[in-house]
Amino acid sequence: MQVFTTTQELREFIAQYKSQNPTKTIGLVPTMGALHKGHLSLIETSRAHCDCTIVSLFVNPTQFGANEDFSQYPRKKEADLHICNKAGVNVVFMPEIEQMYPLDSTLQITFNAPKAMANVLEGKTRPGHFNGVLQIVLKLFNLVRPNKAFFGQKDAQQLLIVQKMVQDLFLPIQIIPCPIVRNEEGLALSSRNAYLSANGIQQALKISASLNATTKAIMRGIKESQELKRIALEILEGLEVEYFEIVNHELQPLEQIQKDSTLILVVARVEGVRLLDNLWF
Ligand code: PAF
Repeated sequence: MQVFTTTQELREFIAQYKSQNPTKTIGLVPTMGALHKGHLSLIETSRAHCDCTIVSLFVNPTQFGANEDFSQYPRKKEADLHICNKAGVNVVFMPEIEQMYPLDSTLQITFNAPKAMANVLEGKTRPGHFNGVLQIVLKLFNLVRPNKAFFGQKDAQQLLIVQKMVQDLFLPIQIIPCPIVRNEEGLALSSRNAYLSANGIQQALKISASLNATTKAIMRGIKESQELKRIALEILEGLEVEYFEIVNHELQPLEQIQKDSTLILVVARVEGVRLLDNLWF
């Protein structure tokens, strides 16, 4: 496994790889590190689809708001490198901030993620978050020039907005959505779970339980979003629920669920930790 910390090293590698292996494919797994089984499944999927898997480890400052957890975000470089090595990753790219953002913020090209998709749900409480995500993802796409890039369905809004950028800017990259990975009890894996106590983890299980109850209700024939929301909120009682929404793939609210184009999203805080989960239906 090769590890690069500068954009120059990475670009040289990519140029050489592409010229020596013109028919081989490159897969990019963008991450902010603190790797867990969820990331591992992205890496495994990339390895199954592509000849060369590149993982980026970079906690991107531009996607954090002023009062968010940028400085506290877990950083586990040694453990991450070990995981990548064991998982058969070909290249790890772990730049310092100055490598990815060489220009003063007043000189940077910034992004406006599509408002209809970026100012709702996560965007309501995290203004500018998706602009920062698109800024770093496009930089990584331009450096790596991957054939495919792998994103988790857990960050559903991010996945749909990145897909929209690829479509709208005609980027020659295939976005591969990867299913949510859960622990044995159903909790969606997240780097932020590390902040939870044992009791907090038990509380957090209500989140996936609310989605399971929603699935069962849908199977029983309930289609109205309002009724499905009522069922879910009953289970989420005791948690600080930020939102439980039923939307289409353009992230617009649905009165009734529609097969194959419905996304049910929940965000709740447990012990102050903001946890996301969702169901693609
Ligand atoms: O999902 C994440 O970890 C980040 O938002 C991403 C895509 C790596 C961009 O920083």
